Amino acid sequence: MKDTLTIALSKGRIFKDTVPLLQTAGIVPLEDPETSRKLILDTNRPEVKLVIIRATDVPTYVQYGAADLGVAGKDVLMEHGGQDLYELLDLQIARCKLMVAGFAGKPLPEGGLKVATKFVNCARHYFAGQGRQVDVIKLYGSMELAPLVGLADCIVDVVDTGNTLKANGLAPLEHMADITSRLIVNKASMKLKHEPIRDLLAHLQSAVEQRNPQ
Ligand code: ATP
Ligand code: PRP
Repeated sequence: MKDTLTIALSKGRIFKDTVPLLQTAGIVPLEDPETSRKLILDTNRPEVKLVIIRATDVPTYVQYGAADLGVAGKDVLMEHGGQDLYELLDLQIARCKLMVAGFAGKPLPEGGLKVATKFVNCARHYFAGQGRQVDVIKLYGSMELAPLVGLADCIVDVVDTGNTLKANGLAPLEHMADITSRLIVNKASMKLKHEPIRDLLAHLQSAVEQRNPQ
């Protein structure tokens, strides 16, 4: 019998950008998570299932082996810490930047900086590296609102076009990291299901190279 493979994906941009890559490995989902309420999706390959979860939960599912593989943004991986998983491949999808953002032209206070973010570990690590004292306030979304209502001096969030910042009178201030999504694998699955994972990796690798020629 073939090894089963469970792949964790989030709805939205990661699912949309990962499906064509999986297709090159002969894996086609039988349902669309945007229309189906199912959380476990079958594929055309009976041994391959997709689990549809929040983007932030993908590393956790893979860490505990509830999914063998997953696709997660580097931002989410840095925040999670990457315990018990390997990062196998940069899929070069969902490209954005992790940035500090705030009011354009208004310098950030030297001490007692209040930072609102869902990336609390990344923010603490970044500002500690600069020797800056910060008070990090955990939010789960709509970070751009925090400076507008006086909850924080600045935010740490992902930025692509900058339109969301601009629409809220904010601007990027400091670049923290370039972000793309990565294929991750549970460490035990990598050993126990080496062959199907290596095969999938090879297909994905060549699909990524074809899409992003050097
Ligand atoms: P959650 O639902 O867990 O809060 P989320 O809403 O941030 O997560 P998505 O918006 O699907 O989930 O983002 C998934 C990944 O895509 C992020 O981790 C990030 O790496 C990347 N990303 C986020 N926003 C953008 C964007 N505007 N442009 C390009 N890539 C993005
Ligand atoms: C992300 C992020 C920013 C926005 C940045 O939100 O949280 O708000 O994208 O992109 P931009 O620089 O191109 O405007 P997303 O669109 O994923 O919304 P969500 O996280 O609320 O789903």
